[in-house]
Amino acid sequence: MTVHSKLMVANWKMHGSLAANASLLADVLAGMADVLCRSAVCVPSVYLAQVQALLSGSSIGLGAQDVSAQASGAYTGEVSADMLRDFGVRYCIVGHSERRQNHAESDVLVATKAQRTLAAGITPIVCVGESLQERQAGQTEAVVKRQLAAVIHANGHCISEIVVAYEPVWAIGTGLTATPEQAQQVHAVLRAQLQAATAHADRVSILYGGSMNATNAVELLSQPDVDGGLIGGASLRAEDFLPMLKAASR
Ligand code: PGA
Repeated sequence: MTVHSKLMVANWKMHGSLAANASLLADVLAGMADVLCRSAVCVPSVYLAQVQALLSGSSIGLGAQDVSAQASGAYTGEVSADMLRDFGVRYCIVGHSERRQNHAESDVLVATKAQRTLAAGITPIVCVGESLQERQAGQTEAVVKRQLAAVIHANGHCISEIVVAYEPVWAIGTGLTATPEQAQQVHAVLRAQLQAATAHADRVSILYGGSMNATNAVELLSQPDVDGGLIGGASLRAEDFLPMLKAASR
């Protein structure tokens, strides 16, 4: 359980266009009247300026999907944490499984990215999660603890300022969701690990991600240590995303 209200974060991944973003956010913003939870949208970097303008004056926070592990310099193609801050970015996903897999991001690299975002005043959303093979081998706890331990080790007393997202790799984009019990079990492990590292573990929101939708959100969000969601596919349509924001507002 966290002291904060629930946090629902959209991960647009590599979707969108200038026209589609404007239309999606117009629909979402029009339905925000009874939304009481915290929310954010993590958008492709090229759209940060557009979405910053569209969200100005709203309660939806702006987020990025990745950040460079370097502060600045000769790193062609990379975007630094300070650059993200320039555009009003408040959250940044680090260590998403698609980056760990497709870009061979290590636990240490992910921890460094978390450090860079915190130094820039941006909240890192640190993703952890096991593959299907790891779950079947009974390694779920060991994997997520190893991934989080690297971030705790690198960030010391700042650790209470991160957000954690538990995203079982086998549930991402597959339509398979962890059961509320499976999610709670892992979230409790992560909470205990944070408690051992900081007296302020109750400030850390632990999100669930992986095929979360308007139907399964209610039960997942009712688990004591599920403090919100990181939502991919179901965040791309206002008619899917808004009911989830409302489920998190109860
Ligand atoms: P999904 O993606 O909701 O489409 O499964 C979640 C994520 O990868 O963050």
